[in-house]
Amino acid sequence: MHTQEVTNSDIPVIQKSGNHFSNEQETRGFDMIASTIFSPIYPVIAGQILERTEKRTGVALDAGTGPAHLSVAVAKQSELKVFALDSSPTMLKIAWEHIVTEDLVQRVVPVLGDVHSIPCEDGTIDLVFSRGSWFFWEELYQAFQEIYRVLTPGGIAYIGGGFGNQKLKAEIFHKMNDKGPEFENGVKERLARNSPERIRTELDKAGIRSYDLIQDESGFWAVMKK
Ligand SMILES: C[S@@+](CC[C@H](N)C(=O)[O-])C[C@H]1O[C@@H](n2cnc3c(N)ncnc32)[C@H](O)[C@@H]1O
Repeated sequence: MHTQEVTNSDIPVIQKSGNHFSNEQETRGFDMIASTIFSPIYPVIAGQILERTEKRTGVALDAGTGPAHLSVAVAKQSELKVFALDSSPTMLKIAWEHIVTEDLVQRVVPVLGDVHSIPCEDGTIDLVFSRGSWFFWEELYQAFQEIYRVLTPGGIAYIGGGFGNQKLKAEIFHKMNDKGPEFENGVKERLARNSPERIRTELDKAGIRSYDLIQDESGFWAVMKK
């Protein structure tokens, strides 16, 4: 596998790019919320991913890892080595801080890259997982093709968004709504954009036939099998 592994010293503090999460202040703001209000969801979602895909060993890739909370939770609950991919160097810098704090530098490896052009060889990743990132992908079908390309034969991708379960979702919405209506409005807008119909169309365009869509209290997820 040829991945661009990132160490703390490699990552510029501010990187101008088209990525929404390129501004250090905004990115720290996202992490502040992810590390506090959202923090209970990551172990729950990690458990769901591992249970539903039955992938607990080998190599995983977290597409759009952000501050790497889900990567960390997956690594803690499995024997997987996790490549934590993100196109924002600023986000990866924060991810690296969490990985070091969690003493997981041997298990979770930050990788700078775009999901539309994943820096991994064909057929090398047993599990691709991703939460809350596909709303930002410019060409979903292209990202799906890339994810499918890097999967091993028998590999599984678990891509989508959610808050773990109904109770956690209600708690998060309650806390976030105290800050204003932007969060709930944003969630509604993103869910409407990536509707099941659109995801089916994009999967079809990507030529991916073997998949399931999960819509339940865990959120909305596309599970692709190779
Ligand atoms: C809302 S955050 C979610 C972060 C994390 N998965 C979580 O659930 O906490 C979305 C992340 O996707 C990343 N992202 C957006 N577009 C991307 C792309 N094309 N390739 C890789 N990462 C991308 C952003 O930089 C950001 O870190």
